[in-house]
Amino acid sequence: KYAFNVKDDGYMYCENVKVQDIIDSREDDRPFYLYSKSQLTRNFQAYAAALQGVDSFVGYAIKANNNLKILEHLRSLGSGAVLVSGNELKLALVAGFDPARCILNGNGKLPQEILLAAQNGVLVNVDSEFDLEQIICASKISGKRIKILLRINPDVDPQVHPYVATGNKTSKFGIRNEKLQCFLDQVKTHSNELILVGVHCHLGSTITKINIFRDAALLMVQYIDEIRKQGFDLKYLNIGGGLGIDYYHAGAELPTPTDLIDAVRDLVLSRGVTLIIEPGRSIVANTAAFVSRVIGVKSNGNKNFIVVDGSMSELIRPSLYGAYQHIELVSPPPAGAELSTFDVVGPVCESADFLGKDRELRTPSKGAGLVVHDAGAYCMSMASTYNLRMRPSEYWVDDDGSVVKIRHSEDFNTYLQFFKGL
Ligand code: LLP
Repeated sequence: KYAFNVKDDGYMYCENVKVQDIIDSREDDRPFYLYSKSQLTRNFQAYAAALQGVDSFVGYAIKANNNLKILEHLRSLGSGAVLVSGNELKLALVAGFDPARCILNGNGKLPQEILLAAQNGVLVNVDSEFDLEQIICASKISGKRIKILLRINPDVDPQVHPYVATGNKTSKFGIRNEKLQCFLDQVKTHSNELILVGVHCHLGSTITKINIFRDAALLMVQYIDEIRKQGFDLKYLNIGGGLGIDYYHAGAELPTPTDLIDAVRDLVLSRGVTLIIEPGRSIVANTAAFVSRVIGVKSNGNKNFIVVDGSMSELIRPSLYGAYQHIELVSPPPAGAELSTFDVVGPVCESADFLGKDRELRTPSKGAGLVVHDAGAYCMSMASTYNLRMRPSEYWVDDDGSVVKIRHSEDFNTYLQFFKGL
């Protein structure tokens, strides 16, 4: 079941709400993000169901979408959180996540960020020698013993865009095999400051082949065996996030959370560890669409363009990774509207500003609404204010069908605030 569908009347719905009605009822006419709360619940529950019978928890990767309402909802469903900055950690605490189910990750953590994790009893992933030194330091300052996981770089090719590959040997993340012993020795020396509780790996994002996760998990359990032989009582195997989703909407059969967990279940059970999984995209991506409107249609040479009021400032994935996100009109096009191939572009002053290239669409009229699908992950959280376009508002369709604002938009005054009193 997917939240956004064109029904028989030719209109796009989010659950049972006509997207056109939402556009028509809004007081401002700027683009916005529209979520389905039920889709969020369904996605989380797909992981919860997959994890049945496995001692485990989900650490939702907040970087994918940091809307507080979304975080609170995921927390209420039992999620933990994976954090990559002090501010994400602060936000996780505001959202009420259990610190024992939170993990601070990152290859360049700042001393104060680690200190905050230590003070709150958050698990910390170790990424490098200097990171470990900082962690020891934070323990001394806080007087708390810090629970750590070693982030191992297993050198498994995730077969994804190079910008989102993180667990191969040329990536900046994690500890390489050859150095593992030095880290273990350090941990032994600093047993007053550190407790080694687990190992972590994260291969990359948008992974669509399950054997990749299996290969990594096989390596990881070997590390667990090796490390346990040295007397460490490892509790956690954290296999990261990275499960891809069906961005193309072309009927491909992609692996589900159940496929993923089933591929590693025997390994987890045989080692008696608690499994941690860190999904971001597969929890939030398909919960939202980015809704914008057509400013006009034009042709240059033999290219046709639909110019919309949404842009790379609000949704940068197509520009940054050449990512495909499916685009559809929210209302039936005018009778006789011709089917053509368009680039869907925004008003931002550079040619990288596109939401989609070479899309077959019926020529829309001015003001027509258009959705970019699967915009719940790494879209709003990566939005910028480039060209002084202020970040848009967000809404969700609640379980009872009501449309609720879940984030205010920024406006020109938000920007002027940055200079107040200077
Ligand atoms: N854990 C770690 C350590 C990560 O680095 C990431 C994502 C995740 C979990 C969550 O991965 P997911 O399940 O969402 O694939 N901006 C890019 C994606 C960057 C992902 C970075 N790491 C995009 O828009 O595609």
